[in-house]
Amino acid sequence: MILLTGGAGYIGSHTAVELIEAGYDVLIADNFYNSRPEVLDAIEEITGKRPALEEIDVCDVEKVDAMFEKYDIEAVLHFASYKAVGESVEKPLMYYRNDLDTLITVMEAMKKHGVNNLIFSSSATVYGVPETVPLVEGMPTGCTNPYGWTKYMSEQIIQDVCHAEADMSAVILRYFNPIGAHKSALIGERPNGVPNNLMPYITQVASGIRPHLNVFGDDYDTPDGTGVRDYIHVVDIAKGHIAAVQYAMSHKGAEVVNLGTGNGYSVLDIVKAFERVNGIKIPYEIAPRRAGDIAQCYADPTKAEKLLGWKAEEDLDAMCKDAWEWEKNITK
Ligand code: UD1
Repeated sequence: MILLTGGAGYIGSHTAVELIEAGYDVLIADNFYNSRPEVLDAIEEITGKRPALEEIDVCDVEKVDAMFEKYDIEAVLHFASYKAVGESVEKPLMYYRNDLDTLITVMEAMKKHGVNNLIFSSSATVYGVPETVPLVEGMPTGCTNPYGWTKYMSEQIIQDVCHAEADMSAVILRYFNPIGAHKSALIGERPNGVPNNLMPYITQVASGIRPHLNVFGDDYDTPDGTGVRDYIHVVDIAKGHIAAVQYAMSHKGAEVVNLGTGNGYSVLDIVKAFERVNGIKIPYEIAPRRAGDIAQCYADPTKAEKLLGWKAEEDLDAMCKDAWEWEKNITK
């Protein structure tokens, strides 16, 4: 059985679907802090199989221990964490407490119960303000906000445990910018309140929830002056986890791997692609730069292909189409 902490969330739920379709038994541990129980129904509708569920907080040592007793867990995919950059600046202790505590609690239970395979959700945010792009895994790291530091520190904790425990195997996945949704439009991203990220904001403008998009800065050193990112379809990200689990189960030690496409698109590229693919105008206004934003961030995805045999397959048009199909499904 594969345990997904935070498995009802955006990336966790897509990964649960891909795991079930690849023949794995899936156990989701989630406290529904930023997700909903109905996600389990959607996963069942897509795959024909309902994942096992433990509704617990994975900071709860006793409940996590009992869960590891109850199920035969072969590998852990650790998604459970807080993820809003702005909120982490306002409430750093909340972020350090939760995002480090969940990881340490899960890793202690793994050690106690002899579970040796861990896949961890890290982020391209650990590259800080990059000097050059594309980003290669060995490049310097450093962060600009507490959320980023939790990922940085978590990576270090995992590396240290793998160093100390010869049987341990971990794949640390640095996600670039996951967008889009499952083709069924039954699962997708559901931000609370005003979206922080670009694509959920665009889909809410498209559905009339918000009047226009604010483009944060048009004076960056990029081809059209707006920020450039490596947007990647969430189903590709999910498939990257399957490859990572298979790798972890047949190797020892820790590996850090970028999950990106290697393509950089600007904010205006995304707006234009969304408009063309979906036939909807996205009104936008140029606004000041957002604090902490960088000009460009995109992956060198070579290591993922060499080590895991994984490569992103979906293009930007599919990402825009699938994001919109999902938004229409939840706002209808
Ligand atoms: C953000 C986080 C990053 C996190 C990632 C998770 C920040 C500074 N960084 O990445 O740590 O790992 O989300 O998905 O929050 N944009 C607009 N208008 C908007 C929203 C965004 O112009 O309303 C622009 C941004 O300036 C940026 C691009 O769109 O150039 C992408 O922004 P976003 O989707 O928030 O992702 P990141 O900032 O790359």
